[in-house]
Amino acid sequence: MKRTTITLVALLAGLGMANAETVAPADVTYEEGAVAQSLTGVAGNPAEGAKVVSTKSLGNCVACHEITDLADVPFHGEVGPLLDGAGDRWSEAELRGIVANAKMMFEDSMMPSFYKTDGFTRLGNAYTGKAHEGEVEPLLTAQQIEDVVAYLMTLQ
Ligand code: HEC
Repeated sequence: MKRTTITLVALLAGLGMANAETVAPADVTYEEGAVAQSLTGVAGNPAEGAKVVSTKSLGNCVACHEITDLADVPFHGEVGPLLDGAGDRWSEAELRGIVANAKMMFEDSMMPSFYKTDGFTRLGNAYTGKAHEGEVEPLLTAQQIEDVVAYLMTLQ
């Protein structure tokens, strides 16, 4: 019994749930597609953001977007617009909204919603063909969203 409690506390701490500043996906406020409030209250790290953008198992943004700054990373797709100058075209709040849930900015966008856990129909359990069980995790964590936004702001 005691061991169970300790494990649970360690697990929750590990998931960052101890951080009261973190805004949960369902609590994000969009204004015309933009999100003014930081999701974590912790400034984003552009270098970490660049990793998320270019890593297949994370944001994998380069599957759809070309970014000249990341020309070393192979497999740039052209489904979405070139992201060069994104930090000029959009404010930080707009970029946070686009990355968290692009459908709030671009109706019917095929860009994935990276910080959203509800509103999915018939969510499957990976490739098992069975229904999803338990909590749904967003594709990226709140801090990863902030890191990506900080990186996009460097694309001037
Ligand atoms: C499946 C393809 C796809 C992926 C993956 C994707 N996007 Fe997009 N993105 C799009 C498309 C398409 C648009 C154009 C808007 C629309 O949907 O009409 C777009 C638009 C954008 C815009 C606005 C473009 C502009 O005019 O400057 C930004 C910024 C952006 N995406 C960032 C990202 C980031 C950051 C990631 C990764 C975390 C990402 N996208 C992943 C398809 C994608």
